Amino acid sequence: MPWQTLLRNRLTSTLLVAVGTCTAIFGMPSALLGDSIKIGHYGSLTGSEATFGRSTSNGVRLAIAELNAAGGIDGKTIELIEYDDKGETREAGDVVNRLVSSDKVVAVIGEVASSLSLAAAPTCQNAKVPMISPSSTNPKVTLVGDYIFRVCFIDPFQGYVGAKFARENLKAKTAAVLIDQSQAYAVGLAEEFTKNFQKMDGTIVTSQSYNKGDADFTARLTAIRAQNPDVIYIPGYYTDVANIAVQARKLGITVPLLGGDGWDSEELGKNAGKAIEGCYFSNHAAPDDPSPVIQGFMAKYKDEYGGQPDALGALGYDAANLLFAALKQTKGEGGPKLRDAIAATKDFPGVTGTINFDANRDAIKPAVVLGYKAGAWHFVATVKPE
Ligand code: PHE
Repeated sequence: MPWQTLLRNRLTSTLLVAVGTCTAIFGMPSALLGDSIKIGHYGSLTGSEATFGRSTSNGVRLAIAELNAAGGIDGKTIELIEYDDKGETREAGDVVNRLVSSDKVVAVIGEVASSLSLAAAPTCQNAKVPMISPSSTNPKVTLVGDYIFRVCFIDPFQGYVGAKFARENLKAKTAAVLIDQSQAYAVGLAEEFTKNFQKMDGTIVTSQSYNKGDADFTARLTAIRAQNPDVIYIPGYYTDVANIAVQARKLGITVPLLGGDGWDSEELGKNAGKAIEGCYFSNHAAPDDPSPVIQGFMAKYKDEYGGQPDALGALGYDAANLLFAALKQTKGEGGPKLRDAIAATKDFPGVTGTINFDANRDAIKPAVVLGYKAGAWHFVATVKPE
C-alpha cells in the first residue's frame, strides 16, 4: 500500500481513538461532533490475549467509520468509547461498569474471552444495556439474561466439530485433552470435545490441566506422552498453546495438536513456528475462504490496518453492524427498545455468515477448520450445525 494511503488510514484510526478518549474524559460538547450515539467496547488491548482485543477493535472501528461516512444514524454519528481490560476478569468488570454508569453508552460490544464476558454481563443485564459478544462461545454467557447476545456459535457445537474432525478426518481413535482450568471457555470446550469424541467411539486416554500463563508444561506433556494418544486436544488461548506446542515437540511428541477458536492469532504461527505444522483448529472464518464476502472484508481490513486479518476482526465488524441495524430502528434509542430490536434480527448478512438468534440469543452458524501447512494457516473444512 502506498505510504500516503497508510498515513491517511493511520490518521483516521488515531482520530477515532482521540475522539472517543476526549469525550470519555472531558465530556466534550457534542456540538463539536454533531449529536452522537455512544457505544462501548471492552477488550484485551494488552496482555497475553492482546491480539483478541486489538483485532476486535479494528473490526468495530471499520464498521463505525463506514457508518459515519454514510451519514450515521438519524443524523447522529456513532461515537466509540473503548477500554482495555488487559485480559483480566476484574478489569473487565470495572471498565464495563464505567461504560454503563459514567459513560452511559447505549450498548456494549465485548468481550472475546468467555470468562471476561461472564464477569461483565451482569452489569449490562441489570442496567438494561444490551451487550453483544462478538466471539465468546461458552453457553453460560448469554444465560446471564435477555440483554446479552452473541454473534458466534457456542461450544457444544465447537466441541462436536473438533471431535468429528479428529475422528473422521484424522482417523484418531484416542485423544488426550490439555485444559486451561482458569478459563470457562477451555473447561467447557474440553467437556464438549470429550463427550462428542466418546459418543463417536473414541477414547480419551488422559485429561491434564494448566493455568493461563504457566511456563513449564513438561510434567503434563510427559504424562500425555506415556499414553501415546493419536491427537492432543488443547482448547486454550494462543500464547499458552504456542509454548505447549514447542515443548511437546521437544519431548518428542509428534502427533497433531487440535484446538478451538482460542488459537486464532497471528502470534501462534509466529511463536510456535514448525512446532504447529500439521495442527488444526476450529474457527468462525478462514482468511483464505474464497467467498467474495470474506475476501471483500479481508481486503478492506488489510488496507486499513495491514497484517493478516483473523476471524476476530470480522466478528467485531459483524457485532457492530448488527447493533447499528437495530439502532437504526430505534433511531438511536437504547434500553428495552434496543434490546427488542436486536432480538428481532432476522437473517442478518454478516461477513462470518448469516446471523439468526436462537431462544438463548446465540447465533447458529457453521464452523470452519484451519490447518497449518508450510508456515501458514489454510482452510480445510466447513462443518454445519447438525
Ligand atoms: N471463543 C473464545 C472464548 O469464548 C474466544 C475466542 C473467539 C478467541 C474467537 C479467538 C477467536 O473464550
